[in-house]
Amino acid sequence: MASLIEFQRRRGLKLVRGEAQYVWDSEGRRYLDAHTGHGAAFLGHGPPRVLEALKEQMEKLIVCPTTFSSEIMYSCLELLSRVLPRSLMNVYFQNSGTEAVELALKLAFKATGRKRVLAFQGGFHGRTLGSLSVTWNPRYRRGFPSLEVRFARFNELSSADAVDESTAAVIVEPVQGEGGIRPAIPDFLRELRRACDDNGAILIFDEVQSGFGRTGFIWAHQSRGVEPDAMTAGKCMGGGFPVSLVAAKGWLLEGIEGGEHGSTHGGNPLACAAICGGIRTLIEDRVPERSFRTGSKLISMLKELRGPIKEVRGEGLMVGLELEGRVDPVVESLERRGVLVSKAGSNVIRILPPYMISEEDIYFLTEKLEETFVEQGS
Ligand SMILES: Cc1ncc(COP(=O)(O)O)c(C=O)c1O
Repeated sequence: MASLIEFQRRRGLKLVRGEAQYVWDSEGRRYLDAHTGHGAAFLGHGPPRVLEALKEQMEKLIVCPTTFSSEIMYSCLELLSRVLPRSLMNVYFQNSGTEAVELALKLAFKATGRKRVLAFQGGFHGRTLGSLSVTWNPRYRRGFPSLEVRFARFNELSSADAVDESTAAVIVEPVQGEGGIRPAIPDFLRELRRACDDNGAILIFDEVQSGFGRTGFIWAHQSRGVEPDAMTAGKCMGGGFPVSLVAAKGWLLEGIEGGEHGSTHGGNPLACAAICGGIRTLIEDRVPERSFRTGSKLISMLKELRGPIKEVRGEGLMVGLELEGRVDPVVESLERRGVLVSKAGSNVIRILPPYMISEEDIYFLTEKLEETFVEQGS
């Protein structure tokens, strides 16, 4: 018996346990986790408030069809109202990032009656057919049917010229993750906002990876002073429990009528409990401030490293280290030395640690990088 994941597996590590910023493998070795399941464990492994909320909810009610509502969903909405942008107070719960992107696109198609989407080179939005269509990497899209999508250059103001009266939506990450940790410049987002307003198109910010405190703000776009019509979020919101949502302007979500969208598990009571625990952690532990502070320290220490480094990029604890060559040997060496990281493309190391990493962890990570560069003769 084998799962598809076994065939795709590239790294042999078998993880058995996690606690806060660390994970342990089946041999009992401890790793500093700066991979965090592509960011899903940003609140750490086993965040206490999420565990508590899940345990309590599990005893009460696990399934509640979306035809009814649950007490925990109201608690979740109340807490969400404290962290969502004021103009995006209407929420639809989903289960994964890709589903949230699908729904955001559906809202835009429905609201405008148009079919065309503008997306960006380097962008990543998921693997189901709609979100895959707006994902840049041609290797991921090859062989699959697509929506009507045009890709423009990220961070180029003239890209906004591609928005016209046939455009339903513009979808963009305020900080590109998979595309190499590339922060959007404020003027670029501002131009997209203007072009959408001028042409009646819907602006979607995909904050699945950049959102929920990682960049030093609750939502990465908030530091740029530009508001979208809809925003997607997911990954770490439920402390690693699979959750996602679309937060949109009221008129946009109201455009979807009964039967036009649905989800068996969207807004599941456990998912709502996990989000409640996630939001409490975000607020009570001052996660954005800590990300900002620790991320600045990490970025400045990476900038001091000697090695084959082309550029250090990032915001808060969403950090990319672009190297002159391929990063695979570096990623493997770090793993052997007790640090887990991921890649963003072939030459960028993606460092996505949990918000509670300590100064000691940052010294450990940079020391292991330095050892790797020395070993590899750079
Ligand atoms: C910006 C962004 N959007 C969407 C997705 C898709 O999320 P999921 O893997 O939960 O479907 C991801 C996943 O990495 C992402 O980074």
